[in-house]
Amino acid sequence: MPKHGVPGWGAAQSYIEALFAPQDVPLKDALRRSARAGLPPIAVSPSGGRLLQVLARAARARRILEVGTLGGYSAIWLARALPRGGRLVSLELHQEHADTARRNLDRAGLGKRVEVRTGPALQAMRRMVRDRVPAFDLVFIDADKDEYPGYLRLAYRLTRSGGLIVADNALRRAVSPGAPKRGGVLECNRIAARHTGLVSIIVPVLGKGVDGMLVCVKTGR
Ligand SMILES: C[S@@+](CC[C@H](N)C(=O)[O-])C[C@H]1O[C@@H](n2cnc3c(N)ncnc32)[C@H](O)[C@@H]1O
Repeated sequence: MPKHGVPGWGAAQSYIEALFAPQDVPLKDALRRSARAGLPPIAVSPSGGRLLQVLARAARARRILEVGTLGGYSAIWLARALPRGGRLVSLELHQEHADTARRNLDRAGLGKRVEVRTGPALQAMRRMVRDRVPAFDLVFIDADKDEYPGYLRLAYRLTRSGGLIVADNALRRAVSPGAPKRGGVLECNRIAARHTGLVSIIVPVLGKGVDGMLVCVKTGR
């Protein structure tokens, strides 16, 4: 069985990452320091990070919300897509993850562009809706998989019309042999597929196995 479960995927991943998503020192260091701090190795892949960057640029994002910071690896990719004066708010449950991310972002020279907020993401997002914060151009969902439907509903309210909502790990559960066909991620995919205010698709992403990102354009108000 090939490393990625699909013949040819390993070579495809190497090709794409070498050409479009080479990791520089701050990205490699962020992963190294996250591992040293005991964080799990569950950051997006380099091609996933690059996809986020491409989407942020396509959306001309000035305000980005990330749900699930870990050690700040995807935040580095996203924050680098922001123009001068742009801002990324990233939500993280665990203080030690947030502290590691803070250090990684500062070392990558992105400290001023990124705010890491600690606490349960659903609560933080509800508060943002209630406080009528300015709309985000892109929301990236990558935290508790059971909470994905809630994140999506709140992300819809927090995103401007024409903006993007992206959710990681949208495909793994759906195609893993024997995996239960229920759960937050699959429910989130179904909501996105049927939502009249969203135009959505899952884009397969090469990483540690078969997975993909749900990408939604908000067409509703
Ligand atoms: C898959 S990791 C995020 C990876 C990160 N986006 C990256 O690619 O570098 C998921 C993160 O979400 C955080 N998390 C889990 N449940 C959460 C919750 N209810 N609220 C906020 N963050 C949560 C975890 O602590 C973990 O750091």
